[in-house]
Amino acid sequence: MSRKNYGDALMPEKITLETLRHYKQSRRPITMLTCYDYAAAVLLQNAGADCLLVGDSLAQLVLGHENTLSVTMDTMVTLTAAVRKGAPDVCLVGDMPYTGYHPDQEPIYRNCRRFLDEAGCDLIKIEVNRSHLDMVAQLAAQGIPVMAHLGYTPQTEFQLAKKIRTRLSDQALQLLQTAKDFESAGAAALLLECVTDIVAQRVTAQSTLPVISCGSGPYCDGQVMVLHEILALPGSVAPRFAKAYGQAAEHISTAVKEYLYEVRHRLFPTDQHCYHMPPEEKEKLDAASPRLRPDIFAIYQSK
Ligand code: KIV
Repeated sequence: MSRKNYGDALMPEKITLETLRHYKQSRRPITMLTCYDYAAAVLLQNAGADCLLVGDSLAQLVLGHENTLSVTMDTMVTLTAAVRKGAPDVCLVGDMPYTGYHPDQEPIYRNCRRFLDEAGCDLIKIEVNRSHLDMVAQLAAQGIPVMAHLGYTPQTEFQLAKKIRTRLSDQALQLLQTAKDFESAGAAALLLECVTDIVAQRVTAQSTLPVISCGSGPYCDGQVMVLHEILALPGSVAPRFAKAYGQAAEHISTAVKEYLYEVRHRLFPTDQHCYHMPPEEKEKLDAASPRLRPDIFAIYQSK
């Protein structure tokens, strides 16, 4: 099914940053999911997702790492390019890995360009705090569309227990100011992770930028969820704000067990899964090479 015949008259052929701005203005919620490979990208685009984020959460979910810190630019660019191939029409968001701007920020422009030029991204998400305002301003001045990731920033904060941001009013005021400052610095979009709902609502109301919530309540311009969490796939520890919409692990496990059973009981493959020689060629083969002994032949024939 292509996006065209998805049956949504408002859905354009290619979703861009401009489309997201338009969605904000018209209060149409923006949908975003993480995606890490070609096949999932095809499925998610065909299902109608607006944006796909190739999050550095792939470090844990795809590569089996303990955290996101060691994932490299090369890995991010390779997987982001694969997602773009599967989903040419979505707004594609690349996620700047920790190694892309640490220990120093010097290579960040080059790394942003890699996301844009090699992987075909529309936006680049960067986990930021106030110390990154100049960096974002410089990137914006060089034409890099940055999604500023504020609130809980997992690359530099490891204490999950202290994850929720802006429970206190002075923290809330600080975040409201920081969000404003990133907008003035030239950010193209904002993502708020684990910010209280009311503060996320205020950031969204005060900003002309599309604001995406990750566990920051319903009042933002859009929502992002980790694909593994909405499908209950192994590897993710779903936070309280996540919701499982499907039990993909169960489906996969059932299908795999059936395949294993059929192979072990010689129920698969059947004739329809085989390539055959033309009879005259088989005759020539029989004449030129010894036929299988009947006892061996029986193994290959038995079901
Ligand atoms: O890496 C990631 O998956 C993220 C989230 C915002 C979902 O950054």
